[in-house]
Amino acid sequence: MRMVDLILKTRSGKELSRREIEFIVNGFVKGEVPDYQMAAWLMAVCFTDMTSAEIGELTRTMVYSGDVVDLSSLRGVKVDKHSTGGVGDTTTLVVAPLVAACGGTVAKMSGRGLGHTGGTLDKLESVPGLSVSLSEARFKQIVDEIGLCVTGQTGNLDPADKLIYALRDVTGTVESVPLIASSIMSKKIASGADAIVLDVKVGSGAFMQTLEDARRLARTMVDIGAHVGRRTVAVITDMNQPLGMAVGNGLEMKEAIETLSGRLPEGDPLYEVCMLLASKMLLLANLAQSDAEAREKLKAALDSGAGLKKLEAMLRAMGGDTACVKDPSLLCRVKRKLDVFPAGSGYVADMDAVSIGVAAQLLGAGRAKKEDAIDPAVGLVMRKRRGDYIRRDEPLATLYVNESARLAEAASKLRSAVAISKAPPERIPMVYEVIE
Ligand code: URA
Ligand code: CA
Repeated sequence: MRMVDLILKTRSGKELSRREIEFIVNGFVKGEVPDYQMAAWLMAVCFTDMTSAEIGELTRTMVYSGDVVDLSSLRGVKVDKHSTGGVGDTTTLVVAPLVAACGGTVAKMSGRGLGHTGGTLDKLESVPGLSVSLSEARFKQIVDEIGLCVTGQTGNLDPADKLIYALRDVTGTVESVPLIASSIMSKKIASGADAIVLDVKVGSGAFMQTLEDARRLARTMVDIGAHVGRRTVAVITDMNQPLGMAVGNGLEMKEAIETLSGRLPEGDPLYEVCMLLASKMLLLANLAQSDAEAREKLKAALDSGAGLKKLEAMLRAMGGDTACVKDPSLLCRVKRKLDVFPAGSGYVADMDAVSIGVAAQLLGAGRAKKEDAIDPAVGLVMRKRRGDYIRRDEPLATLYVNESARLAEAASKLRSAVAISKAPPERIPMVYEVIE
């Protein structure tokens, strides 16, 4: 087999066999297929798409390029969730404890933030003392004892994805449904999940800008799940504004604690998306027979404080100081807070969620490069949502600041991310579709 023939085959729209896909992926991981040929093949995939059989084989080959975590010693259906990435998306820190409080088993491996999107590991590390580098044995022990643990990757998980993603990032080949779908699903499958709930974001702050593209990505990932025998459900939710009000690591941990304390009203976007994801997880884990029953259980876990207790138990098990559970303001103590005002009075007509994420990054909440350090306390809290009326003397957002070097740039980025209009904007849904 020659790599150049396989590039030509994909370029001309023909279907690759299982052996051919293994040749490409395993060859690349071993260093036998050079970067330039892999990049050419990835670009051909971007232009010609892949069949569902090809996507299934690509995903399976990526899974077995490294270690596969075995969670079979843990009781029950191990159910995971994944979001395709957004701004102010604190759902994992709310959903995992709620599902565990309802009897679920959540053994989850999360990632770090890069660019405008946040990462759950960084949010966890805003808790003093907490370590996300657990051995696989300790990770399983915590899940066994309290029903949940969210940690960094253990072992050599999905090296094919790491190598392919790094190449895609610098060759203009990130935005491709088969490549995104296989990248996400291979990591979820390798980390041992029996069942997976996917939150596919659509809108200005998401990979997928149109509902049609989001639907195709969601459908492709659900099909991969079926191909490898993992029950998978996808929901398509809105990312035309930050999901919660907080953007920043300690600020988002604080928002998760407040959500689990029952401080968000029904109808709030963060609350609604958390309830939707958690209810699908309970259904997949056979812990509820209907959406209504799942929601009833989740509401009880919120109202009784059982969800918050699960989060506290996890933070403690991971070495964290849990004083922040009683007083979440400990997580975002900064030198100064600064309000940002709108250009004029009117309705909040549109938000560019990416720019809002970038504004938080400029304050030190996110990384431009993988090696950058972040400040857990800084970031911003939005004070208005899309559709709200705002007077020119009302704050649009509050910035939490320690380091002033890029403060002016952050404030200006935030102000220009929000469009104000005289008429109220058209309403858009929070949840577009559920694909099972
Ligand atoms: N997230 C991933 O893990 N992989 C992609 O390709 C895109 C988003
Ligand atoms: Ca093809």
